Amino acid sequence: MSERLEPSGWVAVARSKALGKNPLRVIAAGRPLVLFRTAAGTHCLADICPHRSAPLSAGRVVGEAIECPYHGWRFAGSGRCTAVPGLVGETPRALVPSYSVTEKDGLIFFSTGRESDAPYTTVLSGQDTVSTIVESRVNASLAEVAENILDATHTHFTHKGILRGLSSRRYRVTVTVSGGDGWVEARYKGEPKQEGLISRLLEGERSISIGRFRAPGIAELEFWGKDRINLATTFHLCQETADTVHGFGILSGPRQGGLGHLKALLFRPFFLIALGQDRRILQAAEVNRRMFAERRQMMGPLDVMRPHIDAILAGKRPEVADRPAELVMEL
Ligand code: FES
Ligand SMILES: [Fe+2]
Repeated sequence: MSERLEPSGWVAVARSKALGKNPLRVIAAGRPLVLFRTAAGTHCLADICPHRSAPLSAGRVVGEAIECPYHGWRFAGSGRCTAVPGLVGETPRALVPSYSVTEKDGLIFFSTGRESDAPYTTVLSGQDTVSTIVESRVNASLAEVAENILDATHTHFTHKGILRGLSSRRYRVTVTVSGGDGWVEARYKGEPKQEGLISRLLEGERSISIGRFRAPGIAELEFWGKDRINLATTFHLCQETADTVHGFGILSGPRQGGLGHLKALLFRPFFLIALGQDRRILQAAEVNRRMFAERRQMMGPLDVMRPHIDAILAGKRPEVADRPAELVMEL
């Protein structure tokens, strides 16, 4: 399986509200990071003291610096050592790796590079939008989780009653898969509004729905009404360690007076149930994959996204970027 552990571009690592006056340790791509806030802003360093390797996140913020909990060395947001308690004379040159960090729409993003643009958060944002964030962890690979979010063929089984109705009725839909450098999307046309609870509550008439994957780890769904998006869910996924994916889902919809808020409130618990259902099946499959390590997975004829997700994660241009594909299936 192709999976890129080294993130490039902005990667969501925490909710803004999780970072208060104490430092916060997060892990991205197997790399422990410490986030901390000072008057000057938010900072992100490798969570390791260059002296005896203590996690800086177990220390505290003092003025513009973070103080190591072991011997009290202090480091600025740039990673430069600014103080060694007890030392008479010049502070030694010590540097903790520092990373770009920024916040948008309630999430904190880090990057190993120097990003010139703000991170992409979600398709719907601003004044006319109501949104809520859910956080989740799954023992699986990023490719498996991204595919699961975008896969329309598991909902009949994994989410019967929640995302789909209880009847086994299916409708013929046309799926167009296209893409470009770093992204792939599937557009589903001809599907009536789904009969599950979430759709009943939230959606008006549905015209098309779109599932999209973007590098480095964004999986998003858009449900379109006649001329606007009725509901969008954008998941920011990060391969935290080799066996865990950390995800933040932004659910958003039009404000519609107070109605949008009410819907968002109602939506959240159902959404959490659906996430739990996905987590259980993904983790059970992951346990099996490890125990049947010699077996390869089969690519099914309806797995329209997975080959392209794998290609993008391997840093390649997806095949559908140059040759969009169309197929008919029953959903
Ligand atoms: S380990 Fe950090 S100051 Fe010694
Ligand atoms: Fe699901």
